Amino acid sequence: MRKKLERLAELRRASEQGGGEARTKAQHERGKLSARERLDLVLDEGSFVELDRFVTGRGAARAAGFGDGEQFLGDGVVTGWGTIHCRLVYVFSQDFTVYGGSLSEAHAAKIVKLQDMALKNGAPVLGLNDSGGARIQEGVVSLGGYADIFLRNTLASGVVPQVSVVLGPCAGGAVYSPAITDFVYMVRGVSYMFVTGPNVVKTVTHEDIDMEGLGGADVHATRSGVAHFAHDSEPECLAAVLELFEFIPQNNVELPPVWETDDPYDRQDEGLLDVVPDNPNKPYDMHEVIGRVVDDGRFYEVHAGFAANLIVGFCHLGGHAVGIVANQPAVLAGVLDIDSAVNGARFVRFCDAFHIPLLVLEDVPGFLPGVGQEHGGIIRHGAKLLYALAEATVPKITVITRKAYGGAYDVMNSKHIRGDINLAWPTAEIAVMGPKGAVEVEVLFRKEVA
Ligand code: HXC
Repeated sequence: MRKKLERLAELRRASEQGGGEARTKAQHERGKLSARERLDLVLDEGSFVELDRFVTGRGAARAAGFGDGEQFLGDGVVTGWGTIHCRLVYVFSQDFTVYGGSLSEAHAAKIVKLQDMALKNGAPVLGLNDSGGARIQEGVVSLGGYADIFLRNTLASGVVPQVSVVLGPCAGGAVYSPAITDFVYMVRGVSYMFVTGPNVVKTVTHEDIDMEGLGGADVHATRSGVAHFAHDSEPECLAAVLELFEFIPQNNVELPPVWETDDPYDRQDEGLLDVVPDNPNKPYDMHEVIGRVVDDGRFYEVHAGFAANLIVGFCHLGGHAVGIVANQPAVLAGVLDIDSAVNGARFVRFCDAFHIPLLVLEDVPGFLPGVGQEHGGIIRHGAKLLYALAEATVPKITVITRKAYGGAYDVMNSKHIRGDINLAWPTAEIAVMGPKGAVEVEVLFRKEVA
């Protein structure tokens, strides 16, 4: 018995070594944390229960005649469950020191087991991704492993929350799984996401670009919209993940947690009277309205750097989690365009799936006109936001702060698409188009103008 226990302790120590000292040192030198250090930061202290820590690769690489087929306990991913804010969460953390965190058959099976448990027990899945994609030496079994994960990502979508943190150079399959999940976090100078890296791009399209320019955190948080959040360091990023969990429920049959606050639910704020300018063409920052309305002024903005003409994010109202969808008059006058519609639609669908009521703050002059938008499919994409808001059955309140014009009036949670209540501020203007616009495009008063 004693001997067996000693052997077990030895194995446990070995499993904590990942791909060995040199590779762990290299990981730290790149300014990155190890897979286990990340888990320590994100889970409640002492709550982690590890699964499958002694699993090794199934020898496919060796069988295929690649290298010496070196084996590492855990096979490049640490999996298990723990708690965040005392609530159960299933988590995996890929270990870049083992074959670049690449996904082998055994590595995939560990993640799949976790996904199945999360679905069965109704708890979120948090993935800490640091992976070079499919393990090249294993060939089709690693591709199959990805497909197994993608299927479970899809089946879990809207059933349990799925959160992805990208913490390394993630390529190929390592980016498609996060893309199916609900929220993607990245860290500047650490995280990269691309289907194929700079070398392949150079060979195929002759474009010269580095990792940061092709798929860095800022690129994905501001241009592609792949990432919902970009942070400056891993600890800051993981702290932001913890904050997200204050707003989301465990699954689609439970309510989000109620967050205690001293901010009275019936607080009145006279300052709101001065936020919206009398001049209908003068911009203002909708964040100011949001900050004055939500509990403790705390707004957890999603996609803050992308499609900024439509603000989306979480807050608490009277302690209850609420999703805010708000036009932003300070950016493009708050028009709806392709990116904002797609963005808004996805956020609304998340809230609808997880019992998070919606507050729509409306100040919208319409959809953005232009050849680029029409040819880019504003009709197809705008319809997604319309569909999402019409379909949503969570409580839905609209407050029209200023303009509610045209098709955008209908789309932004009008009563006709099951908005529960529409409130108009004294500054509200509800119309097919503004008076100036109607005359300028020569629809009204044509004769008089002539
Ligand atoms: C096996 C891999 C690997 C992989 C990296 N390694 N990626 N081993 N399979 N996919 C190993 C390296 O051999 C190396 O081993 C260690 O991990 C670290 O890799 P480096 O290249 O030294 O690190 P770095 O310079 O930081 O570059 C990281 C990287 C690069 C950008 C991820 O390694 C890379 O381009 N890898 C290949 C990416 C890729 O094409 N993956 C397949 C995508 S296809 P040692 O022993 O030296 O430590 C795919 C299919 C699914 O995923 C598609 C579904 C839609």
